[in-house]
Amino acid sequence: MEDILKTCPQHTMSWLKGNLTMYKHQGFWNLKDFIEGTILAQQNLKAEPSDVLVASCPKTGTTWLKALAFAIVTRDKFDGSPSPLLTTMPHECIPFLEKDLEQIEENHKNSGFPLLATHLPYTSLPESLVASDCKIVYIYRNIKDVIVSHYYFLLKAFKLSVDDAPFEVAFDDFCQGISWYGPYWDHILGYWKASQERPGRILFLKYEDMKRDPKNDVKKLAEFIGYPFSVEEEKAGVVEDIIKLCSFENLSNLEVNKSGMHRSTIENRIYFRKAKDGDWENYFTEEMKEKIDKLTDEKLMGTGNML
Ligand code: A3P
Repeated sequence: MEDILKTCPQHTMSWLKGNLTMYKHQGFWNLKDFIEGTILAQQNLKAEPSDVLVASCPKTGTTWLKALAFAIVTRDKFDGSPSPLLTTMPHECIPFLEKDLEQIEENHKNSGFPLLATHLPYTSLPESLVASDCKIVYIYRNIKDVIVSHYYFLLKAFKLSVDDAPFEVAFDDFCQGISWYGPYWDHILGYWKASQERPGRILFLKYEDMKRDPKNDVKKLAEFIGYPFSVEEEKAGVVEDIIKLCSFENLSNLEVNKSGMHRSTIENRIYFRKAKDGDWENYFTEEMKEKIDKLTDEKLMGTGNML
């Protein structure tokens, strides 16, 4: 591992007071232990065609998508009894490729639970996963809100205050592509290109659209992953119940998400901040807005204004 890291460009985030060093591995910036997990997954995962991969770049709405996908897939199992989402943080409801390989194998053998999650860029996915041609759901979000969300997440993870961590420096790092699993544009582009080559196998969900019309996207999601709602379920309000269960208001107020810890290291509550569209306007100068818009136009040219 150390040999691999030696060959990777590295960057220590000065705005986090030097607390975090990222390495550029296979074209994307990441933390040492996640790179380790990536390599293990690339070497060992035996994917199955029935797998459904929930993929995203961090801070794009992953927690929400995981909760929704889990609630959809398990709705019959917990019909009438409390959903595990009431007592378990959504990230712990779906095994994460870079960390939970054993759980994924276990699910393959015993439970038939189809969901697995990743933040990996498409080009770093394990070969067996691409070869399996399994379905992929990918969520993405307005880049300016992702920048603010990413800034606050890392700030809180390292228990720093806004005064300690200049937003302008975090912004400049992000513009240079240096963010967790960044460059963000390349992350989106990888899945977008793959979707052109594998029509019908990758569903794109946009955070802002999902906020505007959750019913439409939740039905689309359920249909895509092979758990469509029946007419009876729709009449009985099952779609609305799932939307309510997974809403920011509900999840962020649950005890587990207010006081629990994720993997014993990160407080669950920092995954739930404001969940507002356009919060970036409170942080960006006009100059920053112009810079990021221009960069985004250049980088995502030809994808039909995804962001
Ligand atoms: P903000 O920081 O803008 O509030 P991820 O889950 O990929 O880490 O993304 C985190 C972002 O999603 C945070 O955005 C967080 O508040 C928001 N979020 C978390 N749970 C949500 C939910 N149930 N519905 C909508 N947004 C949610």
